[in-house]
Amino acid sequence: MYSVTTPMLLNSIYEISFWSNIQYEHTIVFTETIDNIPEAQKNKLVAMRKEWKSIHEKAVEIRDKIGEKYQPYPESDWFDAVWKLVLEAEKLNKEFIELLIELGKLYPDNDTIQLLVHHVYEESGYFMRILATIKKLMSV
Ligand SMILES: [Fe+2]
Repeated sequence: MYSVTTPMLLNSIYEISFWSNIQYEHTIVFTETIDNIPEAQKNKLVAMRKEWKSIHEKAVEIRDKIGEKYQPYPESDWFDAVWKLVLEAEKLNKEFIELLIELGKLYPDNDTIQLLVHHVYEESGYFMRILATIKKLMSV
C-alpha cells in the first residue's frame, strides 16, 4: 500500500519529537530572558509553547506505539497519524517563524536578542526542511 517502511516512519517521528521539544524550549528562552516583551508577542509565545508541547507529546505517543507493534510496513493508521502531525508541525513552525521576525524587529539594537532570534530562526528553517523531506518521503 505504501512504500514507506516502519524504520523510515520511526525516523521521521523521532525528528518531529526532537524538534518540537526544542521549539517548546525556545519559547521559554524568549519569555524568561527578555524582560519587556509586549503583551501581544508574549501571549503568542505562551500559546505556541502549549502547541509545541502538545505536538511533542503526540509524537512520543505515536513513536512508542509504532515501536511496540513493530512490523516492516506501518499500518495505514500510523501513516495517517504521522502525516497529520507533520502538517500540524509545519503550520505551527511557519507561525513561529513569523513571530521570530516580529521579535527581531522589536529589538533592532539589542545584539543578544538579535543573536537569539537568529539562532532560533536558523533552527526553525532547518526543521522546516526536515518536515519538507518527510512529506516528500511519505508522498512517494
Ligand atoms: Fe536552539
